[in-house]
Amino acid sequence: MTYLLALDQGTSSSRSIVFDKEGSIVALAQREITQIYPEPGWVEHDPMEIWQTQLATAREAIAKAGLQASDIHAIGITNQRETTLVWNRKTGQPIYNAIVWQDRRAEPTCAELRAQGLDSVIQQKTGLRIDAYFSGTKLKWILDHVPDARTLAIKGELAFGTVDSWLIWQLTKGQIHTTDVSNASRTMLFNVHDNEWDAELMQLLDVNPAMMPRVLPSSAEFGAVQADLLGHAIPICGVAGDQQSALFGQACFTEGMAKNTYGTGCFMLMHTGTKFEISNNGLVTTSAAQTSGQTEYAMEGSVFVAGAVVQWLRDGLNAIEKSSQIEALALSVPDAGGVMVVPAFTGLGAPYWKPDARGTITGLTRGSTMAHIARAALDSIAYQSAALLKAMSRDAVAAGAAPLTELRVDGGACVNDLLMQFQADLLGIPVVRPTMVETTALGAAYLAGLTSGVYADKQALSALWQVERRFTPQLPADEADALMARWEHAVRQACTD
Ligand code: G3P
Repeated sequence: MTYLLALDQGTSSSRSIVFDKEGSIVALAQREITQIYPEPGWVEHDPMEIWQTQLATAREAIAKAGLQASDIHAIGITNQRETTLVWNRKTGQPIYNAIVWQDRRAEPTCAELRAQGLDSVIQQKTGLRIDAYFSGTKLKWILDHVPDARTLAIKGELAFGTVDSWLIWQLTKGQIHTTDVSNASRTMLFNVHDNEWDAELMQLLDVNPAMMPRVLPSSAEFGAVQADLLGHAIPICGVAGDQQSALFGQACFTEGMAKNTYGTGCFMLMHTGTKFEISNNGLVTTSAAQTSGQTEYAMEGSVFVAGAVVQWLRDGLNAIEKSSQIEALALSVPDAGGVMVVPAFTGLGAPYWKPDARGTITGLTRGSTMAHIARAALDSIAYQSAALLKAMSRDAVAAGAAPLTELRVDGGACVNDLLMQFQADLLGIPVVRPTMVETTALGAAYLAGLTSGVYADKQALSALWQVERRFTPQLPADEADALMARWEHAVRQACTD
């Protein structure tokens, strides 16, 4: 038997999954990681905890599978993206906590860049809009605020990396400092046309080029794990940011194929082939996982609060005891009764980009109950995703491409049938759930398997993808449009400007 190990380092937990060649799970291990909130709007992780939990789950997953490390053919790594780390090359010690993608502290730097009129230059080079979400301004914050950081960086003594780089550095005991194009494309420092760190952008943010990791395609030989860590020198043969990895795991390999991952947030990506296209509708352009010499791109929209709205119902409103109770509560009423919840707790991401928006409930009447609010909260996940897909379709049509014909779904909340049906109703196209919804980790395993010869090509991977359930739209289009108009009205109430 051939086995592949995926290391999936996410925002809430580190997970390791052993897959067989058919893409089925053999064993899974998971450990939560601590969320550190030093100030309002700041989010950090402890880099050593990221590493230790990842290593522990890798060992656990191999043991649970009843395997030896030498039975693992190759490792694939996938990770929370944009999260920014800096460490000392000599000591291997981080000089600051990892600044997590959700952290907003770099907004003043972004405002300065916008004031200098750099939006278009940065978008053309990187595909991104200027936002504190991306790594570049987080890295500048570390260099500006940690004593001696810039001096050490100039001397070449510091290394920058996203979580994939950090894990590879640890797995190879400081021998290899590298990343892949999909992670590099989330830094706002990477030119996605020539796949090089961009000298002008690094100068703009005062980042020394000596800090940067080497960038490889997503399917490549990244180095081997030091034998004593897992018991064998397993080669690392695939790396991708988690959303590009999920796109790959969903076998969305060609132009116009799209997936939405329902997790803490929602991340919708549409493959645009080898074409770099700029969105006129609030989406960003990003590098898809790269498996050949050719760069591939995707359009992406990110919803900052999706599944997290269920945690808010549980922990903030005490409406439910366990997250799994949400479906029953929401189903206890036929619909939201006119209530709309806009969970703009940390502002709104794509396609609105309103950092100052705040959570809002509209349409309350004397007859509104907690069940209506729960239903509306669940609906908000579908409304936000529908707004993204509509933006994506507008971009596709403007570029002369066909609008989307179906949406593949994955992630924790996609097991919720009520949500998936409502999603299809709002979108007016089928929502398709595959048998394997752990597509983020699967994508990394597939990338590793492609490089190491387990799979001949992408066609072999497409053949493994299977539908579990197809949700077809049941609501007449005019009713869906009316609901979307009410949603957009509620969004306007949530925005302060
Ligand atoms: O861009 C952020 C994204 O990569 C985080 O994903 O699944 O760790 O919440 P997740």
